[in-house]
Amino acid sequence: MFAFLNKNNATTAAAVELDPKRIPAHVAIIMDGNGRWAKARHLPRIAGHKEGMNTVKTITIAASDLGVKVLTLYAFSTENWKRPKAEVNYLMQLPVNFFDTFVPDLVKNNVRVQVMGYTDQLPAATQKAVNKAIADTQACDGMVLNFALNYGSRAEMITGIQALAQQVADGHLAVDAIDETAVDQALMTAQLAPYNDPDLLIRTSGEERISNFLLWQIAYSELVFTDVKWPDFSATTLQACIADFQRRDRRFGGLSDQK
Ligand code: FPP
Repeated sequence: MFAFLNKNNATTAAAVELDPKRIPAHVAIIMDGNGRWAKARHLPRIAGHKEGMNTVKTITIAASDLGVKVLTLYAFSTENWKRPKAEVNYLMQLPVNFFDTFVPDLVKNNVRVQVMGYTDQLPAATQKAVNKAIADTQACDGMVLNFALNYGSRAEMITGIQALAQQVADGHLAVDAIDETAVDQALMTAQLAPYNDPDLLIRTSGEERISNFLLWQIAYSELVFTDVKWPDFSATTLQACIADFQRRDRRFGGLSDQK
């Protein structure tokens, strides 16, 4: 019921007034619907991914202009390897094309690139492009553009739990010292501190599920689902999603001021 209302709000992409003091610091996006966007145009699925890459450029600048501190984009999941090889190859090539053409704009907009995920399993050319983009933008101190590449939340938690267990086994950590901060620090989002957790999670294309994305970190995130497919997602749609976020009453388990 609420998701349905939210979805409609976010889809009504009329001009919206945003409160500049309540821009979500960390926005995470599950970029979905590239394939359906292409199919509706009788194009191959990769045409949707190509257009999706252009949307990433637009939304990066739009988010940075709005004052977002961290923009996390789910670009490739640990489950996406199950797709046809040609599509996987294309998705692995996208970061190369993206950074080849876009790093000067990122630097101009003071945006720093980060990546989270099992990047050592990516093709060498993809790793090289990603590492170069991280190095080329390392002096930027504006928004962080954080790509989730070969990322999966359960795998991330397993890796984090193993690291904590190893510290216990080595005698460096007491079992009862494992608290929320220790878990935060063991996850891949530790590098985003103090903005580890998304304030707003957006999923495009009408699907309403989390798909193994940031399961620990979204405990108190506001969720916005929009019918808009990722290639059609615009700066205006982003503003509508943030307007939806600003209408929410975030209580973090407590009571709002009015109560
Ligand atoms: C989901 O749509 C999208 C993906 C699995 C890939 C997302 C990648 C991009 C948007 C481009 C990323 C750009 C860079 C720079 C890394 P889908 O293919 O599942 O769509 P469908 O559900 O309609 O089939």
